Amino acid sequence: MAKFLFPEGFLWGAATASYQIEGSLDADSKGESIWDRFSHTKGNIWNEETGDIACDHYRRCAEDVRLMADIGLNAYRFSISWSRIFPQGSGKANKKGLDFYRRLVEQLNSNKIKSSVTLYHWDLPQTLQDKGGWNNRDTAKYFAEYAAYVYANLDLPVDMWITLNEPWVIAILGHAFGIHAPGLNDFNIALQVSHNLLLGHGLAVKAFREAGRKDEPIGITLNLAPIQSLTEKPADLEAARRSDGFMNRWFLDPIFKGSYPQDMVEIFSRTFSLPATEEGDAAIIAEPIDFLGINNYTRILVEASGSEDAFMGNPINPPDAEYTEMGWEVYPQGLYELLIRVHRDYGPLPLYITENGAAFPDELKKDGTIDDPRRINYLQTYLLETWKAVEDGVPLKGYFVWTLMDNFEWAFGFSKRFGLIYVDHPTQKRYLKNSAHWYKKMISRNGLEA
Ligand code: FCB
Repeated sequence: MAKFLFPEGFLWGAATASYQIEGSLDADSKGESIWDRFSHTKGNIWNEETGDIACDHYRRCAEDVRLMADIGLNAYRFSISWSRIFPQGSGKANKKGLDFYRRLVEQLNSNKIKSSVTLYHWDLPQTLQDKGGWNNRDTAKYFAEYAAYVYANLDLPVDMWITLNEPWVIAILGHAFGIHAPGLNDFNIALQVSHNLLLGHGLAVKAFREAGRKDEPIGITLNLAPIQSLTEKPADLEAARRSDGFMNRWFLDPIFKGSYPQDMVEIFSRTFSLPATEEGDAAIIAEPIDFLGINNYTRILVEASGSEDAFMGNPINPPDAEYTEMGWEVYPQGLYELLIRVHRDYGPLPLYITENGAAFPDELKKDGTIDDPRRINYLQTYLLETWKAVEDGVPLKGYFVWTLMDNFEWAFGFSKRFGLIYVDHPTQKRYLKNSAHWYKKMISRNGLEA
């Protein structure tokens, strides 16, 4: 049997996000967030579900950390809910909100589980949305102030910090396609939001350096996808290049190269207004970071759309491929390609896979087991590609499964199960899926056997 071992000290984790698991929507003076508002607005979420209770993690946190320890995780990625810390978005901080995260980090530390803190995973305080949300440049400044408060007051060792989770998704799904909070449908706003998010990221990194948390790294998590062209025809290749510009380079380039990609500036400006910027923004956005977090689930295969001004090709779903419950193609070799490409084009910095995983229709059997061979196969094949990338020199330092436990999957409510742990939502009972047992074995070997 061949062994595929990872470097010593590799992080094996699982990831979550505050709104998707915590519940306790107004406990300890938490303020309203845009996801509270959005999920309570009829027609936005599958089956009119909300995150009011979610996995009740706010109250069951100790049990959940025990489960992480049972699975043998040596790292855990979670996000802080801004509106627990600043119920009004800015102004007076709410100490009780931060205490929850302090207890969580304490429990992680005492179980030798490294903590990876994301400062923003989509739950903007509603009061800031009322002032324009991420379309308002001031939100970037408020974000950095909130971040600075957390740096100064979460006074326990933290292993890694992530400013934003997936600015592309925030900007595009939230402001151009209206399927995420705050539910807007305006591409001009989405472009401005992308700029203000990047600015908020840069300001939060600057604030971090000033806070003097010396041995702790900070980075950002981007959703990135390998983009492929259906054929070698010039029009399809051009569609793939633009799709890559829209999905990947629009965020990677300003962070690592100090400017937006010129081809996309030109294409966007044919149809939309480019974001308003101020002198000095580019340098703030390119403030050096210590690592890049990559979320990847699938590839994007495109053909030309036929329109000269299109910034994205037509996506193609090959008929003979396997798809997850999200309709996402299982395409593990894409992760290899992506890791090699990011490393080649954006430099030597450490990389983490901060999310990768799959939703399948899991079934809880009478004996309390969940047999999820397709998830095991997904994780195993993606990890094998990850291993190859490490062998080929990519400085990848860790891998986080999305997700620890079945949770509120945004517009899909509870209909998509991504967890290593099955959650029976009516009773809140947790059950380890077979994939959790598989992951535990893999972690104990620090690699795969195949
Ligand atoms: C990512 C999100 C995460 C989860 C997974 C399935 O885009 O960061 O919260 O929804 O997709």
